[in-house]
Amino acid sequence: MNLLLTGGAGYIGAHVAALAEREGHTVTIVDDLSTGVAKRIVSPVITINLAASDAVEKLSTLMRETKFDAVIHLAARKQVGQSVEIPEQYFLDNIGGLANLLLAMRQENVKKLVFSSSAATYGMPTLDLVDEDYPGVPINPYGQTKLVGEWMVQNAANWGLKGVNLRYFNVAGAESKRLADTAELNLIPIAIAQLKRGEQPIVFGTDYPTPDGSCIRDYVHVEDLAKAHLMAANYLTTPDQEYATFNVGTGQGASVLQVLEELKKVSGIKFEEVLADRRPGDPPRLVANTDRIERVFGFKASFGLQEIVKSAWDAAN
Ligand SMILES: NC(=O)c1ccc[n+]([C@@H]2O[C@H](COP(=O)([O-])OP(=O)(O)OC[C@H]3O[C@@H](n4cnc5c(N)ncnc54)[C@H](O)[C@@H]3O)[C@@H](O)[C@H]2O)c1
Repeated sequence: MNLLLTGGAGYIGAHVAALAEREGHTVTIVDDLSTGVAKRIVSPVITINLAASDAVEKLSTLMRETKFDAVIHLAARKQVGQSVEIPEQYFLDNIGGLANLLLAMRQENVKKLVFSSSAATYGMPTLDLVDEDYPGVPINPYGQTKLVGEWMVQNAANWGLKGVNLRYFNVAGAESKRLADTAELNLIPIAIAQLKRGEQPIVFGTDYPTPDGSCIRDYVHVEDLAKAHLMAANYLTTPDQEYATFNVGTGQGASVLQVLEELKKVSGIKFEEVLADRRPGDPPRLVANTDRIERVFGFKASFGLQEIVKSAWDAAN
């Protein structure tokens, strides 16, 4: 396939690009390098800010020059806390960027799209395993931009777009040092960076209604997630496949304390966690029901928590 990847210089995008190239696909990367790292990728980056006023024209030109079989759209701002501080910017960039991309795709007749969505669309679910039909209500502007993005993909079916939303759960791990997650935004990279600075990792909330009192999440290895993108692009090339949304997770929950236990094992550092109060807006448990992606794509995560934490530690050291 000839694939256009937006946000391909980012942590997840670079893993998708690497796997796609290994599988023999041709990859073109568009990224504004706002949080992306050019050295993560081997091919040159076409620098376009998708939310800028000239983006439709630039993207249309690119799509006229190269005939793409599908677009994988990962470019977005993704910091929950920042989205609360500057919601307008998140709507402008995440919604505006996707709108510009869809306008260009419609103009140039490019009709297959895989969209990076998030489990943040579920808000505070009350199910042990949350499925795609759960009527989630996102509780922060970041999650709202992802849910609205899904609706935009759905609406574009009116002009013939075949779209797939992938709702990622907690993405972690790395294929190599080059592709490591260098942002300190999620538990595993934050804890690793704290250990490297000689600090103790912090556990926010130890009184949740979970077996050990800390929050439970579904950690999915970024290499498994990359595989799901190619399965999704492939799914769109088969006849009669229409708009659909898929969770991408493992179906297994791990608590913050369990993750930190794995980190003690792989790092060999016997640290004591700092136990802190809950943060507002953290659901006690967020774990994927993976039935749909298993049934439709035949997707099953191949890496477990130990491999995720080890690969993240190795990539950071
Ligand atoms: N990392 C996670 O745990 C996680 C979970 C759920 C969903 N997601 C989604 O996955 C996608 C990729 O996330 P990531 O972790 O790789 O983040 P990242 O910040 O590493 O990658 C995002 C990439 O998009 C680029 N970008 C951002 N805004 C852009 C714009 N306006 N125009 C062009 N390029 C732009 C950045 O430069 C960067 O390379 C995002 O859409 C994010 O919301 C991530």
